[in-house]
Amino acid sequence: MSKTLNIKINNQEIEVQEGTTILDAAEQAGIHIPNLCYLKGMKGIGACRLCLVEVEGLKTPVTSCTTKVKEGMSIKTDTSELEDIRKFVIDLILSMHPMDCMTCQKAGICRLQEYAFKYEVQESNYIRKRWNYSTDNLNPFIVRDPDYCIHCGRCVKVCRDQGTNVLDFMGRGISAKITTAQDKPLHETNCTFCGSCVDVCPVNALKDKIGDFKDREWNLTKSKTFCTFCGDSCAIEVSSNKNHIVRINSAYKSYEPKSYICAYGRYGYDYIYENPVKSPMIRKDGQLWESSWSEAIKLISEKLLQSKNTTAFITNGSLLTEDALSLFDFANEVLSARHIFTTSALYVDDDVIPAKKSDLYEADLFIIAGLKIGQSQRMLPALDAIIRRIVKSGTPLISIGDTDFVNISSVHISGDSITALKSLTSAICKEGYCTDKNTLKDTEGVEPTEEAIEASKLFIKATNPVVIAPPDLYASASNLSIIKGFAIPATYEANALGLSLAGIENSIDDYKNLLNKKDFKVLYVIGNTTISEKSADTFTIVHTTTLDEFAKMADVVLPLPSTYEMSGTIIDYTLTPKTLISVVDTHSYRKAPREVFKMLADALDKEIKIPRESDIKRLLKTKTKQKGKAFERNESLVVNPSLLIDTINSAVINSNRLKWLEQTEVSKFSKG
Ligand code: SF4
Ligand code: SF4
Ligand code: SF4
Ligand code: FES
Repeated sequence: MSKTLNIKINNQEIEVQEGTTILDAAEQAGIHIPNLCYLKGMKGIGACRLCLVEVEGLKTPVTSCTTKVKEGMSIKTDTSELEDIRKFVIDLILSMHPMDCMTCQKAGICRLQEYAFKYEVQESNYIRKRWNYSTDNLNPFIVRDPDYCIHCGRCVKVCRDQGTNVLDFMGRGISAKITTAQDKPLHETNCTFCGSCVDVCPVNALKDKIGDFKDREWNLTKSKTFCTFCGDSCAIEVSSNKNHIVRINSAYKSYEPKSYICAYGRYGYDYIYENPVKSPMIRKDGQLWESSWSEAIKLISEKLLQSKNTTAFITNGSLLTEDALSLFDFANEVLSARHIFTTSALYVDDDVIPAKKSDLYEADLFIIAGLKIGQSQRMLPALDAIIRRIVKSGTPLISIGDTDFVNISSVHISGDSITALKSLTSAICKEGYCTDKNTLKDTEGVEPTEEAIEASKLFIKATNPVVIAPPDLYASASNLSIIKGFAIPATYEANALGLSLAGIENSIDDYKNLLNKKDFKVLYVIGNTTISEKSADTFTIVHTTTLDEFAKMADVVLPLPSTYEMSGTIIDYTLTPKTLISVVDTHSYRKAPREVFKMLADALDKEIKIPRESDIKRLLKTKTKQKGKAFERNESLVVNPSLLIDTINSAVINSNRLKWLEQTEVSKFSKG
């Protein structure tokens, strides 16, 4: 526990925790100290010197973003001398900065503009210096214009902390330049176009290249929701005007491990404007024709009435929990149809549901077992970035087996992941920390390796260790969380756990055999799945956002809300519920699966419940008893996650700008 210190800022008495910077202490007390390079959550850089304050007893002002409070400190933030220094700093920066606020994209959110206004610096009093650096404009996502750079260093730090290491300073002082290795354009570097650097740049030196819909900052409506393109389900902020998405950023304004989104989450919104399904469509004379909802519901309900238990439903792991509950109810109660398939059941079974909710961000030790994820291949990229950022701030990591985290680990246990996990657990048990009978029995007689003994010391010392493993290793890895801490299954789709908790499960063999089963009279597909062929004898309904090749073969196509139009809940891999809200309404004729099932039930004179918040809470209370599992890999849960995610997100990946990225990356990164 840190100590509480008593300080004074502008004669106001303040209690603050030891270790807090003066700038943070002032913010906590509601006192704003002007700053440019400081970013809440990021260790102070001390580059701009705008945040200077006077501390009683010190001869010269100090930078408040890098100076920590001390007991009894008396600080002044608003003397006329300090205001003069700040005006001078802004004046100097402006002498090297393009003065084009009229057309600058960051106008309205630019901190430099804000302070130039505050200190009434209309024109710099110094001789203007123009660098005339070339602009890196050769990719469809990010514009890098070093002429605007104020050398705050935020972009370098954020890119370095997450392990991508693309940007760095070249040179020193006012002629320093932020650049890439050999000054190459971003697309010729290892840049993944995550845009983390854009989110932290306080000026126009790094900016999003605007998509089709250009607008001024003050016209934009900003709403927060979650991305559903992968298991990370990142929090996003969608900026839109008149239902057109202009930009997507991380939902977090401060710098924290979770303030990361990848290129799919940031730029994938193009897909909702490409080949949208604009109304229900019915096949007549070999062609799909637009129809009304009532006509489509009538036709589908007639077909379902005939097929009943020979109906199969298939969806993917980003279906919202409310829709999953409705699907379960409709299939079981209305049709007595038990054939519900989901792509998430390819890698989630009962043993992959964590026994308790975990807090990834409170980890004081990571144990990463056999996990192959990464930002360059966009396989759970946010989880990769989050782990790297937390480790960079000092949290130790034990890497186990074949994983991409070996180079940032404190201890690596080599060899097969299961053997290594068993060895580590045995080393901990030998010190008397295990009580679970199964674990004790399974590790009996196992001689731990030296690496495992070394790692066990870190585990024993930790208060909140978090073990993360892919689904096939999860049961074995979760044995550690019985001793202490938490276990997280790295599931690939946003609501994989939500679907499983809602009862949408199927055997993997059933899923794989789905298309071979000619006895299904009706196939009802929601969202993109791995199914790409249609049997001529099966009446096929596709509920989708975009008219892809599979939808073009369907007998009925229904318009599905896009990621940005959905409202409902997902339950992520830490068992945390996340509520999505509809942030744009591009096509109001789209209906959520739960609405369609209600309409179909009505048409069939049956009743189904509309799921409520209490139903989600009930699911989360489902307790899985935590008991030791056998140390073995569950081979039946092994999938090619990249292939699965790319197939499910094919509309997103093949959308305008991301298509360019996919093609550019083929030559740079191998997609496994
Ligand atoms: S987009 Fe991401 S990877 Fe590329 S330079 Fe910026 S922070 Fe680094
Ligand atoms: S590019 Fe932006 S974030 Fe990076 S140092 Fe320059 S001003 Fe700061
Ligand atoms: S990491 Fe996954 S959830 Fe996060 S922005 Fe990217 S695709 Fe979306
Ligand atoms: S905000 Fe402190 S030096 Fe820039």
